[in-house]
Amino acid sequence: MRLNKYIARAGVCSRRKADELTLRGDVKINGKVIKTPGADIGDGDVVEVNGRAVAPVRKSVYILLNKPKGYITTVSDEFGRPTVMELTGDIEGRVFPVGRLDADTTGMLIMTNDGDFANAVAHPAGEMRKTYRARVNGAVSKERLARLRRGVNVDGRMTAPADVTLVRQSAAGAVVDIAIHEGRNRQVRKMFDAVGNKVIDLQRTAIGDIRIGGLKPGHWRKLSKSEIDSLIGNKGE
Ligand code: URA
Repeated sequence: MRLNKYIARAGVCSRRKADELTLRGDVKINGKVIKTPGADIGDGDVVEVNGRAVAPVRKSVYILLNKPKGYITTVSDEFGRPTVMELTGDIEGRVFPVGRLDADTTGMLIMTNDGDFANAVAHPAGEMRKTYRARVNGAVSKERLARLRRGVNVDGRMTAPADVTLVRQSAAGAVVDIAIHEGRNRQVRKMFDAVGNKVIDLQRTAIGDIRIGGLKPGHWRKLSKSEIDSLIGNKGE
């Protein structure tokens, strides 16, 4: 197996990232730095990435987690906050999060041990559609909905057109469904800030065509083959 595929299959990173690490001299085969991403790895070869021995996992695992509030979507946290890894410890094979959700955001998070799949799904060029349900304070007027749809200035740059639906408006605030194709940092919260509403609760309800359904917070399920295919083949509408 080629070195970059071997590293991706070990769940370390994507093949492309493995190429970078290899060219940078971060990869050793049998104790020797090798800078050839296409080097052939045979039985008995020991591959190390940044000093850690890695080995391909035989089976690829793809899951959908309903992330509860307060969990961080990283593998470890320097401040000791709980991470999504604690919710998936019972899964055979180590899976890692695909993309990010803020600690305060709940809902759909895909996790896998397949580095190439993670890269294909999370890469901005893929423009994967992500749908959120936001509970916000105050009134979301027609004019604000139109601005959210058209694009608003976030961190000095306009957001791309979004699908925005007002689900409910009450005296206490509004519930809005918003589907975006970008994945900028705290994007939905910042979009509402830009039109004058504050997000109180945010849940990711769909990624591409996959919906969270009745999955309980803190629980996970395996993705079906057709769901996995839809994530790779179908990037939005
Ligand atoms: N937008 C946000 O503001 N937060 C998230 O976690 C995801 C999208």
